[in-house]
Amino acid sequence: MKITTLIENSPDENESLNNEHGLSMFIETDTCKVLFDTGKTGAFIDNARKLNIKLEDIDVLILSHAHYDHCGGVKRLLETYNIKPKIIVSEHFFEKLERYHYSDGSLKSDFSKESGYTYVGIDFNKEYLESKNVPISYVHDDVLKVSDDIFVFANFNKYYDFEKLNKDMKLKVADNYEVDIFDDEISLGLKTENGTVILLGCAHPGFLNIVQTIKERTNEKISGIIGGTHLIEANADRIEKSITCINDLKLDLLGLSHCTGENAVNAIHEKCKNSFINRTGTILTLD
Ligand SMILES: [Fe+2]
Ligand SMILES: [Fe+2]
Repeated sequence: MKITTLIENSPDENESLNNEHGLSMFIETDTCKVLFDTGKTGAFIDNARKLNIKLEDIDVLILSHAHYDHCGGVKRLLETYNIKPKIIVSEHFFEKLERYHYSDGSLKSDFSKESGYTYVGIDFNKEYLESKNVPISYVHDDVLKVSDDIFVFANFNKYYDFEKLNKDMKLKVADNYEVDIFDDEISLGLKTENGTVILLGCAHPGFLNIVQTIKERTNEKISGIIGGTHLIEANADRIEKSITCINDLKLDLLGLSHCTGENAVNAIHEKCKNSFINRTGTILTLD
């Protein structure tokens, strides 16, 4: 099994690929080609070409949640290639499209450049996908099998009090802004010889809540975590508690991407074995 990160916040080592605030990973097994998220602008398509990855061959497109930095390349993908991959999303994906980020102006990030509410949702709807004749498969249950070694997980339990929802991530309901609970977030579990490797999109429900849920459901060792851990807004206490939990898992692989944040990356590099930045262009081979 091969995992290529097609786009991510950090540039590739040679700086020959596009990078942006967002995430997109390509997973290739003997029987299945899966695209997990599409970044912010569709620039992952140019990277895929440079990396000799044929996106026209994908069987499945899985979208981790309905945010612009994970779903922003969907339209360009479907309009560049005449393909109809099966799209897998949570059953709640299209229920909650009015998504905003509130900023008081103090935090400087991709989605909080100005103060007030910034739309951080997606630029298509269900009717758009239907007009392209793409089949949509909804995750209704806790787990959906994609192939013999790729599984989608949903409905994550809450185990860790310190993994708090970000109160500035909002859902607009009528004229009110409510805290977004991200019940549309889905993650991947990849079966390998050494255990399950988890791929995270943004991990808004808390990456350790996701990992512990998958661990209990599969009853297997979690051997790796790759993707966005959303520790970017975490304080030092949460980062320390997260590190203790990471070390208890004894991971072979900890690939930090996207919304992990510099403070967490530095602390994890210092205190956790096998961690690395899973950046644009990273290629991992798993058995
Ligand atoms: Fe997100
Ligand atoms: Fe994100």
